[in-house]
Amino acid sequence: MSDESPDESAWWQSAVIYEIAPISFQDSNGDGKGDLAGLISRIDYLKWLGVDAVWLTPIYRSPFRDLGYDISDYCAIEPAFGSLDEFDRLVKALHAEGIRLILDLVPNHTANDHKWFVESSSSPNSAKADWYIWADAAENGGPPNNWLSRFGGSAWEWCEARRQYYYHSFLVEQPDLNWRNPQVRAAISEVMRFWLDRGVDGFRVDASAVLIKDALLRDNPPNPGAAGKPPPQRHTPVFTDDRPETMSCIEFIREVIDSYPARLLCGEVQGKTDRIGHFYGTERPRLHLPLNFVLLDTPWNALPLQAAIDAYFNALPEHAWPVWVVGGHDKQRIASKVGAAQMRVLAMLLMTLRGTPFFYMGDEIGRKRVTIPPDRIRDPFEKLVPGYGLCRDPERAPMRWDASPHGGFTKGSPWLPLEADGGTSVTEQQSDERSILALFRALIALRRAHACLRQGGYAPLRSHNDVLAYKRTEGRNEALIVLNIAAEPRKWHWRGRGRLLLSTHLDRPSEPLPDASILLRANEGVVIALEVR
Ligand code: GLC
Repeated sequence: MSDESPDESAWWQSAVIYEIAPISFQDSNGDGKGDLAGLISRIDYLKWLGVDAVWLTPIYRSPFRDLGYDISDYCAIEPAFGSLDEFDRLVKALHAEGIRLILDLVPNHTANDHKWFVESSSSPNSAKADWYIWADAAENGGPPNNWLSRFGGSAWEWCEARRQYYYHSFLVEQPDLNWRNPQVRAAISEVMRFWLDRGVDGFRVDASAVLIKDALLRDNPPNPGAAGKPPPQRHTPVFTDDRPETMSCIEFIREVIDSYPARLLCGEVQGKTDRIGHFYGTERPRLHLPLNFVLLDTPWNALPLQAAIDAYFNALPEHAWPVWVVGGHDKQRIASKVGAAQMRVLAMLLMTLRGTPFFYMGDEIGRKRVTIPPDRIRDPFEKLVPGYGLCRDPERAPMRWDASPHGGFTKGSPWLPLEADGGTSVTEQQSDERSILALFRALIALRRAHACLRQGGYAPLRSHNDVLAYKRTEGRNEALIVLNIAAEPRKWHWRGRGRLLLSTHLDRPSEPLPDASILLRANEGVVIALEVR
């Protein structure tokens, strides 16, 4: 198999991307919160693991009501994380190891203590009066329409100084910027340039599907599927989400990105497989990678998985590069859903599908949801919309590095608790050559060593009996991937000569398989190199 390096400007096509929530990664000063110095001290680990890029959730100055997605100053580092000098040190240290850095761009809203909002809310005649979404009260004095906040209640909040309402998709303290205003666009492009000039390799655009809301402020219709769903889903958000005008905002953001060489733009476009193609753009490019969460949302079985993978590929325009995400700071841990044995199969699927893999800190040690006692809950969503099992804190618990108290994350008291009964750690798994961590590392290395796994075409094979199988082909190089989703053995045959490259169990020798068949053990996946005639 060949090992040609692809076009550098599209480095992200062959990259493996690792999401870090810095507040929970590594604390260096004992305040119980992770910080940039702590992150720098863990670069050795990132290098050892083999990831090509890290995406950090927001590190900007923020009251941290919503994990830093409430920004008070886009061009300053939150003091609990460190300083701009430390940030520059982080960029340098990552780049020295060949690891790229992606920041979170939150263009949809600011914190309400941001100076833009303070000015905008001070008077209808202020210079920034039109920087946020303001509207007069309805005739009865109530909110202008029925729009709901994702975090519960009306999305409109009364402001006495202006005698008007402002719109907030999320918390009351997160007012939405007005993307129809060219000054807002210009201000966000300045923010982007500030970080790009400091060497940042790209952005993940937060809430990119909701940047524009209906100009007529039409009421959202009732959601026929609302029964049993949290109250914010009472309406179908046709006039607030995924408006066609939003695409011009994404195109604008992309133009800024493209004025720098080799930068990446990915974005959060949740739950939109049938629409995902639009987020790539046609004449005018939009996102390089609209994040795709389909593997998280699909029942863990060979047939539904095959169907979901096909549906996703079919939804992509020809020029689009695929992307697969299996975890994140908003998503329930996939290891809790599929279980420890299948988590290995999932890792193999993620690293061998065509497209850029994203995983979230802790996925590589098979981390499950951490139980958070009710009095320790921090997630504002859970506080405002309790009782639906949608709290995001179980995913946001600090990393467990070793067996010491608080997992080596902090010497102080962690901002969110770790597992009460201990649990598996990075150090423990680093010394076990068959751990899931060892598997993630081996898969990343395998991907790097074989161009067909990175760049090759994808061809599904007809599967049955809980087996998911496909080929990845580039020129004369071909890999066969066979994943046993069952907890019982399954046999698989092929034509031609094959050589085993890797088993999820990490206990098979890499050697020829002369029978052109393999008996997969329960929960086992394999990658086989095929000889193409
Ligand atoms: C995005 C973030 C989420 C946050 C929300 C509001 O969905 O991923 O964590 O709560 O935006 O900023």
